[in-house]
Amino acid sequence: MEMERMIDWAALALQTLALAFVFILGVAAAVVVILFIIDRTQTGDAIRRNYPVIGRFRHLFTTLGEFFRQYFFAMDREEMPFNRAQRDWVTRAARGESNTIAFGSTRNLNIVGTPIFVNAPFPPLDDQVGSTEPMLIGPGARHPYRAPSIFNISGMSYGALSRPAIEALSRGAAEAGIWLNTGEGGLSPYHLASGCDIVFQIGTAKYGVRNDDGTLNEEKLRTIAAYPQVRMFEIKMAQGAKPGKGGILPGAKVTPEIAAIRGIPAGQPSLSPNRHVDIANIDEFLDMVVRIREITGKPVGFKTVIGSVEPFRALFTRIKERGEDCAPDFMTIDGGEGGTGASPMPLMDLVGMPVREALPRITSLLNEIGLRGRIRLVASGKLVNPGDVAWAIAAGADFVTCARGFMFSLGCIQALKCNRNTCPTGITTHDPRLQKGLVVEDKFKKVANYAKGIIKDVETIAHSVGVSEPRQMRRKHVRIVQDDGTSRRMDRIFEDLTD
Ligand SMILES: Cc1cc2nc3c(=O)[nH]c(=O)nc-3n(C[C@H](O)[C@H](O)[C@H](O)COP(=O)(O)O)c2cc1C
Repeated sequence: MEMERMIDWAALALQTLALAFVFILGVAAAVVVILFIIDRTQTGDAIRRNYPVIGRFRHLFTTLGEFFRQYFFAMDREEMPFNRAQRDWVTRAARGESNTIAFGSTRNLNIVGTPIFVNAPFPPLDDQVGSTEPMLIGPGARHPYRAPSIFNISGMSYGALSRPAIEALSRGAAEAGIWLNTGEGGLSPYHLASGCDIVFQIGTAKYGVRNDDGTLNEEKLRTIAAYPQVRMFEIKMAQGAKPGKGGILPGAKVTPEIAAIRGIPAGQPSLSPNRHVDIANIDEFLDMVVRIREITGKPVGFKTVIGSVEPFRALFTRIKERGEDCAPDFMTIDGGEGGTGASPMPLMDLVGMPVREALPRITSLLNEIGLRGRIRLVASGKLVNPGDVAWAIAAGADFVTCARGFMFSLGCIQALKCNRNTCPTGITTHDPRLQKGLVVEDKFKKVANYAKGIIKDVETIAHSVGVSEPRQMRRKHVRIVQDDGTSRRMDRIFEDLTD
């Protein structure tokens, strides 16, 4: 009897399973038929029209391939914009882990443009080396800035970045003793909370210090300058990822708070003009530098991208004619390889000289015209690992600023979604659910560790080339690999500035 009941149960279970299977099969077949009809009748996509249903896998694999390549297929030095070796260095430094590697370098040293540092026959002993001294910027301003660190955080606006990202950067900057540039989105309470040194950027829309017509509001500027921790002002003339094009913040990222800080309507795209409406030539630019310095009493510099050196020869020559009092206190050279929250692809790909060429050229020009001691040089553009930063200091930079390196220290996985509101790591999104992933208490330490790790290793390179601190490195300490496979001293390469 018991046996018969068990057989009945088993038969029933089998029957139900079979029915469920047939049902699922039926639903699947119906879905395939519906997709087939949709694909065959739609007109926008040739592959799906010609190969209904199967054609959809191409889209799926194209999308997923972007991620799979990163994890499984791309070699350590292969990906763009940053390869795994570069990102891993940041991650290890940010975690405060040892950044020594074993067995041998995976870097191909034959690639044209690779910098090779010239090791000294008798490097200094550990007790003969020092750390980088603070450097004075804007000696003529009422409140000059003694900048403690060679390595600092480049402009990224509150808007492009999320609130927890700004909080972590700001606390990390305070912890490491480096400056934080606000980017063009104005000053928020999250920049200020930690007490870190701040460089306030005045973008082409002058967010935070604007009149409705886009001109400078002096009252608002005075209010910003009254914060003691705002140390300098940077006029953004151009940025490497989009020279000639203003900032772009999609409407989805313009929250009411961000709109209020910027002085614009919420929910609508925040588009800044391609240049300052009140700066159309060299004299208007120098007038603006002087005006902002007089109002704020603080050093004033500018950020730009080099297309050719000629406009800068004209600028520096005009400064000499008018007198050095009108000179900007610093100049940030952003390479054409720079990043952004959003930019048209042709500008990102093709416009503006890479920093590897721009920086030595502008340094030489400043030397030639006699302004090298007056205008401090800041360099940015994929300078995210110690070798990049050391190269820039040797090439002439007084300071290096970095944006995406600090994003990696916050946990960025290079998902390339900064222009949407869907960043999976919470760094460039205002979606509270995604922001939960970015825990400020943990990340600010990583930001600080990364900065300290870079500085330590740049000092190591400086000692290896035979000087006691990074700013003593010169171009002769770097050789650049040429197309015939040999290397040439960097100081012999950028002699002709006229082309
Ligand atoms: C998400 C994001 C937002 C940015 N926002 C600004 C900005 O508001 N103003 C600016 O001058 N540059 C901005 N930049 C450019 C960086 O400041 C920097 O110049 C450029 O990315 C090169 O540095 P990197 O290679 O270290 O990233 C932004 C970059 C990123 C990635």
